[in-house]
Amino acid sequence: MSAEEVEQQESDFTKPLSFEEIQEKSDKYLMGTYRRAPVAFYFGQGEYLYDSENNAYLDFLCGISVTNLGHGEADLIEAIRDQADRIIHTSNLFYNQEQALLGEALIEHSFPGKVFLCNSGTEANEAAFKLARRNGESLSGDCVIISLENSFHGRTTGAMAMTGQEKIRKGFGPLIPGTVHIPANDIEALESAFDQYSGRVAGFIMELVQGEGGIRPMDKDFVVRARELTTANNALLILDEIQTGIGRTGKLFAYEHYGIRPDAMTLAKALGGGMPIGAMIVADDFTHLLEPGMHGTTFGGNHVVARVAYETLRIIVGRELLKNVEGLSDYFFRRLRLLEQSSNIVKDVRGIGLHIGVELTDHGPDVVRRCREEKLLINCTAGHVIRIMPPLNLSLDSAAEGLDIFERVIREFG
Ligand SMILES: Cc1ncc(COP(=O)(O)O)c(C=O)c1O
Repeated sequence: MSAEEVEQQESDFTKPLSFEEIQEKSDKYLMGTYRRAPVAFYFGQGEYLYDSENNAYLDFLCGISVTNLGHGEADLIEAIRDQADRIIHTSNLFYNQEQALLGEALIEHSFPGKVFLCNSGTEANEAAFKLARRNGESLSGDCVIISLENSFHGRTTGAMAMTGQEKIRKGFGPLIPGTVHIPANDIEALESAFDQYSGRVAGFIMELVQGEGGIRPMDKDFVVRARELTTANNALLILDEIQTGIGRTGKLFAYEHYGIRPDAMTLAKALGGGMPIGAMIVADDFTHLLEPGMHGTTFGGNHVVARVAYETLRIIVGRELLKNVEGLSDYFFRRLRLLEQSSNIVKDVRGIGLHIGVELTDHGPDVVRRCREEKLLINCTAGHVIRIMPPLNLSLDSAAEGLDIFERVIREFG
């Protein structure tokens, strides 16, 4: 391609390619690591996404709990524009106002401590893994990090080793050693792991609602016992709030439902309102574990993503969106529980806030496909668990519209 042709390429983004063209180029040039649904979106507004033929889809998936404010949110877009106009990136060799203000906001809304900024969920968990390993250095013998079966913590090697799902780890051995998995919500197993590895437990990590594992909330007793055991054994209690955080469960952070505080918490997904950012918040007692030069990232918290994350928090808190989540959540659960009673294929309805799982006996992927054909976006995880994660600012009318479609599709299958 000549320089002139390359220069003109910019205009390609002003006219959408057909879906077939996008698919063909993607299949040819992108690694086949994803199973993609046969649709591409080019425009989004509020709770709707539009494909290249201008069909509107109701988005009850939010890019897997990322666009919690929906699409095209004016204040977020203005923050991106304004920040990109001024400065995009300088690196962590320098101070950065947007990071400083984001750090302050995160700490104000969580617990006394400090923030490390990175680019994704798995990276936030890698940081937590290293924090725990540093904690482990002061314990006797080889340290271990305990995590839960059926958990999901990411795809990089440390996060993958903590992930309690064989299907994620298979084929990538030998795994990083020093991780132990126990069944979720099993206090006896938790106590015996702390006994077995006495003096060697560097940290315990869990999701308070296992997301990829099928929207499975932890029991309060289990979480409280984990808090007691980690404190008594000088182990870090690490909460992976990458999927549950930033209002998804009706509180800014899910730990607020449980009456405990973690020693470290990891965030990503909805924190950046769609821009890639991750964070690890470390409680004051443990911030000394990572000293200058021990951990870092080039992009982490660059000017634009930090500004957008700050704006995301400002909107959620300032517009009191968590109250909206409470009302919507009641509505969703009421209708879904009625559906459970009247349908043969709905086995369970569970979750917290707008982090909702509908376990089916069968047909999970088919239900997702049929909903998509009817212009409702949801997904399926852990076999046949339908995951419903609408925007936090959804209207009741749109909630009703989406649930009408979902119920109709479920009835097609029983
Ligand atoms: C609980 C949890 N932890 C970690 C991750 C990994 O995040 P990322 O995909 O941003 O690396 C995910 C992603 O789905 C997640 O749900």
